[in-house]
Amino acid sequence: MKYLKHLNKYFLKYKWYLILGTVFTAVSNLFGVVPAQIVRYALDLVKETIDLYFLFDGFKLQSSVYEFFAFSILLYGLMILVLALLKGVFLFLVRQTLIVMSRHIEFDLKNEIYHHYQTLPLSFYRKNNTGDLMARISEDVNKVRMYVGPAIMYGLNLITVFILVIWYMLSVNQKLTLWVLLPVPFLSFSIYFVNTIIMRKSEQIQANLSKISTFTQEAFSGIRVLKSFVQEEPSTIAFTKQANIYRQKSLDLVKVDSLFSPLVSVLAGLSSVIVVYVGGMEVMAGRLTPGSITEFIMYVYMLTWPMIALGWTASQIQRAAASQQRINEFLNIKTDIVSKQNISKEIEGDIEVRHVHFVYPDSGIVALKDFSMKVSAGESVAILGTTGSGKSTIANLLCRMYDVSEGEIRIDKIPIKNLNVNGLRSQIGYVPQDVFLFSDSIRNNVKFGADEMTEEQIIQAAKDADLYDNVIDFPEGFDTVLGERGVTLSGGQKQRLSIARAIAREPRILILDDCLSAVDTKTENQILNNLQGIMKGRTSVIISHRVSSAKLADRIIMLDDGYIVEQGTHDDLMEANGVYRELYDKQMSVEEVAT
Ligand SMILES: Nc1ncnc2c1ncn2[C@@H]1O[C@H](COP(=O)(O)OP(=O)(O)O)[C@@H](O)[C@H]1O
Ligand SMILES: [Mg+2]
Repeated sequence: MKYLKHLNKYFLKYKWYLILGTVFTAVSNLFGVVPAQIVRYALDLVKETIDLYFLFDGFKLQSSVYEFFAFSILLYGLMILVLALLKGVFLFLVRQTLIVMSRHIEFDLKNEIYHHYQTLPLSFYRKNNTGDLMARISEDVNKVRMYVGPAIMYGLNLITVFILVIWYMLSVNQKLTLWVLLPVPFLSFSIYFVNTIIMRKSEQIQANLSKISTFTQEAFSGIRVLKSFVQEEPSTIAFTKQANIYRQKSLDLVKVDSLFSPLVSVLAGLSSVIVVYVGGMEVMAGRLTPGSITEFIMYVYMLTWPMIALGWTASQIQRAAASQQRINEFLNIKTDIVSKQNISKEIEGDIEVRHVHFVYPDSGIVALKDFSMKVSAGESVAILGTTGSGKSTIANLLCRMYDVSEGEIRIDKIPIKNLNVNGLRSQIGYVPQDVFLFSDSIRNNVKFGADEMTEEQIIQAAKDADLYDNVIDFPEGFDTVLGERGVTLSGGQKQRLSIARAIAREPRILILDDCLSAVDTKTENQILNNLQGIMKGRTSVIISHRVSSAKLADRIIMLDDGYIVEQGTHDDLMEANGVYRELYDKQMSVEEVAT
């Protein structure tokens, strides 16, 4: 239960919904309970009047007795009708307050979680898979909503009905009240028990269902591979197997479900039998009127539904607590990428990396060892190395996606830990190794949130990234929508769009992480030539595994297994006759063969 405390701030925020909802619940139940007494009065009246009616047999007064009797019954009937209507009106208001409150809280909670996700560092997303992140914000919030809405509504209903009904029952006959309430604890316990089984089984079914949808989704998106490896038949068999498990579990659930209503009926019926038997004795002893027996039976049925709801409410609250616990776990994680001094400034672009050592926090892999480099503002440096040598790690550290384990990175002589994180990132144009494009138009992919960007800037960026000619070939040009339902770009086009996105915002520092790997050498040269113009006056870090990308840089750093093995200008390194020279000769001869 302590996990649900987190939601109290929302109850406070929407206190008026809660207070009014409680009042409306009480009022609507009052209108529900009072008719039982009217029925008692009516029935007792019938009994008495019939005696009177026969007593006046043969007298003129008999017809007046009849008229009075008919009028009273009509009046009682009308009263019951009006009360039922009023109950209905208030029931409407109950839902309009409590369920509306739950929808508001659901909205706030979703926003709170999403906003919190956005503040969390990359390492968080490494540790938790996307499915988990999504489940918190959809399924778990949904379960919590069942608590803040329906569970509270039924809970309040239960309490007010119990208080009212037991109050009225006691005022009529105490002995009968005790007898009627005897099966109640047993009833609520068994409902709770059966309900827990139902919930557990439906959760298993839910898990199975998501397995099936993951399976089918994968089968559809991988349909090309599936077909070319002739796996249609095995895939169908695997699907049938999953579907079979689902069917079996569903049938299990139906079995338990079917137990539910008979159980409730038996126990409610038991209470009615007790009322008739004990009530009959009391009537014979003259302590109770016959009308009261009917009244009590009505009370028994009024208590039945809240009893069912009690079991349901209890298991909903349990589930909500479990969900909220999971949500809290995420909400309690705070980002460690914070800036104490929070310096916001226009960056010149001077980079200094001093003896940096970096270990990935989640895997413990040592990615950089004693790495140092100095890039003055406006200079360009190329970082070359094989896969896994730590090149992308440098890009991550410069954007402060992670903090260094040892050593320091300074930008414009200021440790980046003291710079405002968003300010720093927004002045770096970063083209990540794994291109990601959003299912949106090409224009919006280039703009990506920079609303002030002009059409000229977008076009210029596309031209510089050598993408413009491709774009205007599409019938819809920059409005062409990408993604699953839109156009699929080739690997090279995607990379160039990704470059256009980075250069369009005219950053002070440009980091290109192996972003030309999917374009041919000719296009690479073209882009690099265009970039030369852009790189003028900006600091650029070009990460690559191809020497052709590195030629243009003022300086080249050769990286191997996290260590710097060689550095200098292209000419220096060629002269040194070391690893760079070796790589150069190898790659250039391959290229000659290719062209
Ligand atoms: N997010 C990460 N978490 C844990 N280990 C990582 C992560 N990214 C990269 N690594 C590891 O760090 C090393 C350097 O990786 P990386 O910088 O990506 O190399 P490169 O870009 O040169 O191919 C590799 O051994 C890689 O497995
Ligand atoms: Mg890399």
